[in-house]
Amino acid sequence: MEQQKRYGHFDDQHREYVITDPQTPWPWINYLGNEDFFSLISNTAGGYSFYKDAKFRRITRYRYNNVPMDNGGRYFYIKDGDTVWNPGWKPCKTPLDFYECRHGMSYTRITGKKNGVEASVLFFVPLKKWAEVQKLTLKNESNEVKNLKLFSFEEWCLWNAATDMENFQRNFSTGEVEIEGSTIYHKTEYRERRNHYAFYHVNAPIQGFDTDRETFVGLYNEFADPQAVMEGKPRNSHAHGWSPIASHYIEVTLQPGESKDFVFLLGYIENEQDEKFEAPQVINKDKAHALIAELDTTEKVDKAFAELCEYWDALLNIYKVRTGNDKLDRMVNIWNQYQCMVTFNFSRSASFFESGVGRGMGFRDSNQDLVGFVHQIPPRARQRIIDIASTQFPDGGCYHQYQPLTKRGNNDIGGGFNDDPCWLIFGTVAYIKETGDFSILDEMVPFDNQPGSEVTLFEHLKISMDHVIKNLGPHMLPLIGRADWNDCLNLNCFSWDPNESFQTTENVSEGTKAESLMIAGLFVVTGKDYVALCKKLANGQWSMVNGQCDFSAEAERMQAAVDAMIDAVKKHGWDGEWYLRAYDFYGRKIGSNECEEGKIFIESQGWCTMAEIGAEDGMVAKSLDSCKKYLECEHGMVLNNPAFTKYIYEYGEISSYPEGYKENAGIFCHNNPWVIIGECLAGRGNDAWSHYAKILPSYVEEKYQTLHKVEPYVNCQMVAGKDAFKPGEGKNSWLTGTAAWMWYTVSEFILGIKPDYDGIRIDPCLPETATDYTVQRKFREADYEITIHPNGQQKGVKTITLDGQPISGTVIPYSPGKHIVEVTM
Ligand code: BGC
Repeated sequence: MEQQKRYGHFDDQHREYVITDPQTPWPWINYLGNEDFFSLISNTAGGYSFYKDAKFRRITRYRYNNVPMDNGGRYFYIKDGDTVWNPGWKPCKTPLDFYECRHGMSYTRITGKKNGVEASVLFFVPLKKWAEVQKLTLKNESNEVKNLKLFSFEEWCLWNAATDMENFQRNFSTGEVEIEGSTIYHKTEYRERRNHYAFYHVNAPIQGFDTDRETFVGLYNEFADPQAVMEGKPRNSHAHGWSPIASHYIEVTLQPGESKDFVFLLGYIENEQDEKFEAPQVINKDKAHALIAELDTTEKVDKAFAELCEYWDALLNIYKVRTGNDKLDRMVNIWNQYQCMVTFNFSRSASFFESGVGRGMGFRDSNQDLVGFVHQIPPRARQRIIDIASTQFPDGGCYHQYQPLTKRGNNDIGGGFNDDPCWLIFGTVAYIKETGDFSILDEMVPFDNQPGSEVTLFEHLKISMDHVIKNLGPHMLPLIGRADWNDCLNLNCFSWDPNESFQTTENVSEGTKAESLMIAGLFVVTGKDYVALCKKLANGQWSMVNGQCDFSAEAERMQAAVDAMIDAVKKHGWDGEWYLRAYDFYGRKIGSNECEEGKIFIESQGWCTMAEIGAEDGMVAKSLDSCKKYLECEHGMVLNNPAFTKYIYEYGEISSYPEGYKENAGIFCHNNPWVIIGECLAGRGNDAWSHYAKILPSYVEEKYQTLHKVEPYVNCQMVAGKDAFKPGEGKNSWLTGTAAWMWYTVSEFILGIKPDYDGIRIDPCLPETATDYTVQRKFREADYEITIHPNGQQKGVKTITLDGQPISGTVIPYSPGKHIVEVTM
């Protein structure tokens, strides 16, 4: 294996990843913002900002697929004599005497030093503010007086990120700005239907500015050598059309040892229709002035930063483990939880692999993301569930995606992904178990956002289950529809036209026999949850106000459907050593030993073992063994094996990928935890742990910085599989369901602390080598300190004491207050 170079390391005390070389093998990014205003920032300060929706409210411009890759961002140019440099190395790439980027919890600090000057920039979005703060500290560490010329730089996006990239015949004529003191306002399209503008401010007098890109950069120069900067002369340009930018020019004199702070603020403002202008053609700046006034000194900014840090302290104090294994503790206590929050906020919309214009929020994705953060911010989880359910149709089907700004279902992609409905149960049950809030089931929720169509959320759950039952195929297994979890297994698609999208092309549904074992397993798992929920309701846990239901009868009805599904899987879904994956349109087996390629798939092994189908007949154990034998490799478990070597018209997109990538035998990290949970339920702690450690970033971090390429502090969606050209190479970092599934797996199944309706269930599954550990868990109004003594056991709780008193069973009954729990295995 090639020699691995290191680009950074973890700093657990500060909850930071410290990058010490700007030339990482791929841009290593972080996210700023927690609610409305968001930014992506790379380790060289590349990236962009947007308000709520990366497509419709893009504030600054970014060019995906650029050369070099990460070009464009918030840049500070420092001209010291003839030397021009940036604290984050790019875009000038002047060699620095020192470079460091610290990615922390919703903030990034980039520090560069050159010729005795230190420039350190702290980037963050203050809580509840629609603005990105960039606090720049310049320090003279030399013995001479320094006369520096400082240029800031942001490039505006003309709001809609899609048309910004396309519609140049219009775009080059619409750009408008205003300049007032040290603030540059971007007001393109404000004259017509937009009631919003953006601004870029600095809390110091400026000696010049630029707002027209070509004037600032020069037509034949680049971001690396803008003419105005190279000559040390701003042009004071006023943009009319073309490409508006914002650049401040400040002359800074620093005595030896002296340092100065500058607070730059990139803000977003919305005005009421009748308060848009203060004079003809002049935007009303009252709200901008007010926002600036809240953040115009170092003290105010430091206070806002301290609040952000406290916010993260509180979030990360809800579940904390001490195992003595730093690599595990840092993922559980810091990075995994952080990534879960980021995926909750962005779903799959904006990363360095997701352009922010293509996808909205996924129905199934968001429900899964929910299990990753519901313990931290339950009210937002509650709202998310209602938003998601509101995009459902009366027959239980649902839009596959919706836009976060409008919350409307996305017509381009439509519905028909037959696993989608089940995930609503998955998300809702997780929410109720965490909070005990059954009232959510009584919320009136519309169909397809149509006023007047509201029924209770419980009714939505019911029709979700029914959607599966009403769409069974010839083997009484669920029909797959457009696709199940695997968006690329398109069994009803049949496309020979390269101009068609596999996802949106019209499907043939007449006469289809395409059935999914993955949905079968998912149905059994969520069906059991649904039955348990109905039983709770039958026992009077919550009396419905808005809708009536005989919950006992409903529990029985659904139990029968679950039992029937289990029978169908045992009869028609078992291949001898593993579960089949599916039946195709014509009713032929997929994922069978009889197949030439793609003999075994991970999804059905994961879901059917989680559902424990046929455990009593040895099916679960055999399936898990087969995963080890055929799917596992050095870097994790691949999705299918052997990989497809040619395009199969009947299977669709899955076979469009070269071997070892994405859904064609890539290590799709998202589904590895399904098998790991299967292992945990089967009590095989050693195997569960060894699968888990293979895709745990902190374990990979040590070994593979260059091979893996992408950020070593978060999971990526896919690692190239054993059949790939370069096994072990990661792609699609950050926005992946892997985050939530890794969290769910380690917190609830490995460490074994599982929220339940009436308390916390303790049921760890550990490697034999595990030593004593303690979990600090806030749960509703209670605070538990739970110490587990594994005693070399992989599974099985022997005794539990609660505040010194033995309890029977494995559920610690909930009661508010502080509690000490001791568990012996
Ligand atoms: C999508 C998921 C899908 C997965 C597997 C991801 O890109 O966001 O919804 O389940 O791919 O195809």
